[in-house]
Amino acid sequence: MAIHPSTSASGQFQIGGDLTVNRLGFGAMRVTGKGIWGEPADRAEALRTLRRLPELGVNFIDTADSYGPNVSEDLIHEALHPYRGVSVATKGGLTRHGPDVWEPLGRPEYLRQCVLMSLRRLGLERIDLWQLHRIDSKVPRDEQFDCIGQMQKEGLIRHAGLSEVQVEDIEAAGAYFKVATVQNRYNLVDRTSEAVLDYCAQHHIGFIPWYPLAAGDLAKPGALLDTMAKAHHAAPSQIALAWVLKRSPVMLPIPGTSKVLHLEENVAAVNIKLSDDEFAALDREGQRAYRTTQGH
Ligand SMILES: NC(=O)c1ccc[n+]([C@@H]2O[C@H](COP(=O)([O-])OP(=O)(O)OC[C@H]3O[C@@H](n4cnc5c(N)ncnc54)[C@H](OP(=O)(O)O)[C@@H]3O)[C@@H](O)[C@H]2O)c1
Repeated sequence: MAIHPSTSASGQFQIGGDLTVNRLGFGAMRVTGKGIWGEPADRAEALRTLRRLPELGVNFIDTADSYGPNVSEDLIHEALHPYRGVSVATKGGLTRHGPDVWEPLGRPEYLRQCVLMSLRRLGLERIDLWQLHRIDSKVPRDEQFDCIGQMQKEGLIRHAGLSEVQVEDIEAAGAYFKVATVQNRYNLVDRTSEAVLDYCAQHHIGFIPWYPLAAGDLAKPGALLDTMAKAHHAAPSQIALAWVLKRSPVMLPIPGTSKVLHLEENVAAVNIKLSDDEFAALDREGQRAYRTTQGH
């Protein structure tokens, strides 16, 4: 019998204190076309990738109405509805005008439409976790937060989160709803959100790092990540993921792919145990690489 890795080895986290998920999730942005626009190049493989998720113990999927747009949510529905223990987290608040073009729109009536349409596409009566994709700077943020709080009270969404925010935004949103998750770009060599991550850890808020596989020059032949990967008989991206997972118990990485093989490789990273010394060495190199990109 084939033995498959399972994300349960990544440990569990309770989103909002009551929604238990395995910490290694899946990002469904890549099951779309180039520029996150339209259908994926290989639709059958994208569906196979999604159907493989529960077999590998992945029970937390991140998507957004704007991925495609609509394509990612539609494919998730086609592949996995009625989900059977898999939580689908989605996002709204970004409009799409073409490949790689994203424009925030945070007017309350639009945010409400985002939630209602995601419910319809996903075939759900309530969304386990709905996240504001971006705070729209053209609309008072309190109006956006208030609308989210109201939709939660009405039962349209179970938990609510934010994306690409500062600590101060999280605190301001807290007046309207309990912030269950924060989704900011974070990886070994992008440490912009260290303060936000620490805040989330202190307040038991799930921190969802996007672009978690990135490792920049550290993955180059002969560089630290490459050397460590060889010692673990692993790929550099797996070590990068193992490092992110070890960084904090509130960390919920969502590596994304459109290919079954890549998915299986990413999930296998949960079995890589970095020693504290390895973790610290990667941390130092990652911080150094980050400071270099910031010009320090
Ligand atoms: N909140 C936000 O603003 C925001 C922004 C961006 C993304 N996200 C979320 O975060 C998730 C992850 O972010 P991301 O997709 O930018 O970054 P990522 O997961 O770190 O990297 C994805 C890229 O790496 C490739 N890849 C994945 N696994 C691989 C493997 N084992 N070997 C080689 N290549 C591999 C994928 O291509 P293949 O398809 O060829 O495998 C894809 O090009 C997204 O799916 C989305 O849900 C959120």
